Amino acid sequence: MSGTLAVVGGGVIGLAVAVRAARDGWSVRLYDPMLGSGASWVAGGMLAPLSEGWPGEHELLALGAHSLARWPEFARSLPGDVFSSTGSLTVALDAADAEDLRTIAEFVGQQGHELEILGRAQIRELEPSLAQNIRLGLLAPTELAVDNRALMAALKEAAVGVEIIGEAVTDLDALDADQIVVAAGAQTASLLPAMPVRAVKGEILRLRRRPSAGSAPTRTIRGSVHGRPIYLVPRGDGLVVGATQYESGHDTQVTVAGVRDLIADAERLMPSIGEYELYESAAGLRPMSPDGLPVIGRLSERVIVASGHGRNGILLTPITADAVSALLCGDTLPEAKAADPSRFEPVLGPKG
Ligand code: GLY
Repeated sequence: MSGTLAVVGGGVIGLAVAVRAARDGWSVRLYDPMLGSGASWVAGGMLAPLSEGWPGEHELLALGAHSLARWPEFARSLPGDVFSSTGSLTVALDAADAEDLRTIAEFVGQQGHELEILGRAQIRELEPSLAQNIRLGLLAPTELAVDNRALMAALKEAAVGVEIIGEAVTDLDALDADQIVVAAGAQTASLLPAMPVRAVKGEILRLRRRPSAGSAPTRTIRGSVHGRPIYLVPRGDGLVVGATQYESGHDTQVTVAGVRDLIADAERLMPSIGEYELYESAAGLRPMSPDGLPVIGRLSERVIVASGHGRNGILLTPITADAVSALLCGDTLPEAKAADPSRFEPVLGPKG
């Protein structure tokens, strides 16, 4: 089955859906007034569903693991190289963090995925730039990171035959297309008011390694300082440091407090970070659902939603493209069942 498709939103989700649909034979128009300026442009690009596993969050772990497994083939289907790290290492600075790492390793192990607990000496050997007082580490060799901007560029290059329209869509009914996919990220609720997707602001810093500075980690380094999550994600020329988390509507200004916390927390993990050049700070809006799972599914005969990816948009891009491709064929992808919007049916009302 194929016909005309309108994709609303040109972040990584919208672009990947459009590329896949065009390859499947759909005639695709993608609408975005500011292509490449949303959350996808700001993202750290960590693929860390295992390291972020937590007892009780089975569905999020399974969905993330299914998408992680799809990433190598998805990357091969795009031009260029989009990967930017050699795995992920979550570190513990105190006894409580160390206990959390053991909890994660046990839970994730019970779900059939292996993570390796590392002691101080092993951490120092793998990542010598990290702080000497790190007590324990959790190594996930399969959790690579993606250069979000290289990914955006690769998807745009792969969007052969996709007509990009630099206009905002305000009314889905006005779109002249057989099928519509709403992949509008934090703007989703402006088009689908009943959709429980809210904006959660995140600030990041981009740092460049100066010639005199110590070497950068080759893995994504994740940790927690004063209860705030912090990560350092390798890039060709340095690191992305993220991310703050606030519920402040659609505000995308970078605050002094946000930058201060990110630098202070990053320095606890990697003391030499002060030698790097700070060349960019930015904020993006994560599209967050109430249960932390994305919302991917059919809302009516003509409308499909692919949103609510929260902190995991880059990770969940391949499985979302597959799930939407299946929906457009009148099918469903079993691995993405947990993302079905019918779980919010009392809010959304029955499918029209
Ligand atoms: N992707 C990680 C974050 O949103 O902070």
